Amino acid sequence: MIKRKEIAEKSYWIGKVDDRKVPFHRLTLEKGTTYNSYLLDTEEPTIIDTVDILYGREYVENLQEHTDLNSIKYIVINHVEPDHAGALPALINKTKNATIVTTEKGKELLKDMFRLKDKKYLVVRDGDKLDIGGKILHFYETPYLHTEETMITYCEEDKILYPCDIFSTHIANEELFNDLATNDITEDFKVYYKLIMHPHRPYVRDMLKKLKNLDIDMIAPSHGYILRNNPEKYIKLYDEMSDVGNINKNGLILFTSMTGNTAKIAQNISKGLENLNINTDIINAKNTDMEVIKEKAEKADVIFIGTSTRYADMIGNIEYILNELIKLDLSDKFGVAFGSYGWSGEGVEIINDYIRKSNMTLLDKSYLIKTTGVDDVDLPLRVKFTPNEDSKAICVKVGKTVGEVLLSN
Ligand SMILES: Cc1cc2nc3c(=O)[nH]c(=O)nc-3n(C[C@H](O)[C@H](O)[C@H](O)COP(=O)(O)O)c2cc1C
Ligand SMILES: [Fe+2]
Ligand SMILES: [Fe+2]
Repeated sequence: MIKRKEIAEKSYWIGKVDDRKVPFHRLTLEKGTTYNSYLLDTEEPTIIDTVDILYGREYVENLQEHTDLNSIKYIVINHVEPDHAGALPALINKTKNATIVTTEKGKELLKDMFRLKDKKYLVVRDGDKLDIGGKILHFYETPYLHTEETMITYCEEDKILYPCDIFSTHIANEELFNDLATNDITEDFKVYYKLIMHPHRPYVRDMLKKLKNLDIDMIAPSHGYILRNNPEKYIKLYDEMSDVGNINKNGLILFTSMTGNTAKIAQNISKGLENLNINTDIINAKNTDMEVIKEKAEKADVIFIGTSTRYADMIGNIEYILNELIKLDLSDKFGVAFGSYGWSGEGVEIINDYIRKSNMTLLDKSYLIKTTGVDDVDLPLRVKFTPNEDSKAICVKVGKTVGEVLLSN
């Protein structure tokens, strides 16, 4: 490991180059990666992110060679995943006076994941500042880029943005700065964006709005090259790749209902979709001609199909409709099941089976977790009896979450 490399006055890279073929998120990083950690050696020395859990001990030993660990005042954790926060337990045990700076959610996760319950925390919120004696840090929350707790850190004096995973590239390298790279990194930068950030595209837009107010000379991410030459180019690439302006998506919500409960669910799902400007048709299957349903289904990018449960089965003509729909080529569409029920809710599960039988992609909880990491949305959507305020909010959230999946595809 290289001991430390200066990136600005009193600011150093203290990371780890990992030139293995690194297993990561069901992929192999053929070009390896780096875990970039930074030390801001001010009057109140501050570390921004650490390195992968595998290299915790090596990282701390390296740091000890040039820095008195008891002098470390703050450890900023922008993102809790173990490739950046993994060396925190090893570090915090040797830095008696350090306070962990992170978001509220970050604190909760660190306590659970690394059992760091009795440590000192400073919880920061969007726009908060911290004077570290010679430099001022600004923090901005960037939820879901790419996990819920993430934030970015900006140093006012150096005009350096420390965005952790955002603006990263998986390439092991010793050159550190993009202007010293032997090959053009643009393609690798785009591939990284597509894999890690693109599924959270609406949040990329929110993050870019926050950057507009910052004067950025250098982007120091947590993987790959530090972007000191033309950082604007990389911000612009994120802007172009995440632009939803030209995207036109359609939703269809098809339901059947005895007493209006499932209809209420349908209306609230549609609110979530409409908030993202996804044109949505709500159709009561009972009153609608099959030809009209087919036409709308073919136009839609997502088809929600809802029923309540009556004697352990779906109700009305929904089974007939499903049998017609599965004959169509719906292979470029997502299918989602929903419905109200009383105690067992078989109807919703039977719709789920039909969607599986069709050539649609079943959008269920498992799909959401695997593609976006979102684990707090239950799909298929099941609501007991008449939706109340809480369950209505859940229905809106389902619409929004599914809409975000559409916009990211
Ligand atoms: C005749 C009848 C049979 C029912 N059977 C079931 C059942 O087997 N399992 C269940 O979970 N709920 C059952 N329910 C409850 C309904 O699914 C529940 O009231 C639901 O909220 C109705 O929604 P809807 O207004 O959208 O039709 C039954 C209700 C009725 C009236
Ligand atoms: Fe990550
Ligand atoms: Fe990462």
